Amino acid sequence: MFRVDEVRTLRQALILRKMRNECSLYMTNETAQISRFRQCLFYIDNILGARDNYKCYLAYLGNQPIGYGLIRLDSSMITGGIVRRKRGFGHGESLFVFLTSKARELTGSSFLEVKEKNLRAIRLYKKLGYVTFGRKEGVLVMTTRYPHKHR
Ligand SMILES: CC(C)(COP(=O)(O)OP(=O)(O)OC[C@H]1O[C@@H](n2cnc3c(N)ncnc32)[C@H](O)[C@@H]1OP(=O)(O)O)[C@@H](O)C(=O)NCCC(=O)NCCS
Repeated sequence: MFRVDEVRTLRQALILRKMRNECSLYMTNETAQISRFRQCLFYIDNILGARDNYKCYLAYLGNQPIGYGLIRLDSSMITGGIVRRKRGFGHGESLFVFLTSKARELTGSSFLEVKEKNLRAIRLYKKLGYVTFGRKEGVLVMTTRYPHKHR
């Protein structure tokens, strides 16, 4: 059964860190080059510490973590990914439906940045009702104009 949990422990944060690094080629902000130490500090600060700028999530199938998501609270930006072996089964759609409605609940809106070459992700976002409203250096900025569909 698919579910999404907010990350609350260091162990979950380290799982998220690893998954995010595995998806780094698709990300518009390259964070995999940041040292392991600084990455860990980011998660400790944002998840367990005083800073409260990000909400972090893990997607599970049963007890198995299969994806992650982040919501940046000051800009309503969402991002996420599904581990390679679990792509193509509808979990990415479920994850981004969750992230979109959570971002709206927490911030009132939701935005995405996606590389123009990432056609799979763009197709998913369009399916969820996202439209492009900006473009910069090979990156599209998208937001939802209409309520997205729920499965
Ligand atoms: C993008 C990503 C989250 C999609 O997750 P997924 O589980 O593979 O996608 P789903 O099975 O839920 O498919 C949902 C929709 O995505 C699109 N999609 C999925 N796989 C696709 C493919 N191989 N080609 C084209 N579109 C595809 C389709 O619109 C699909 O809906 P449809 O089957 O009704 O056509 C996943 O591929 C991923 O994690 N990629 C790497 C990280 C990444 O790109 N993150 C986004 C950064 S902005």
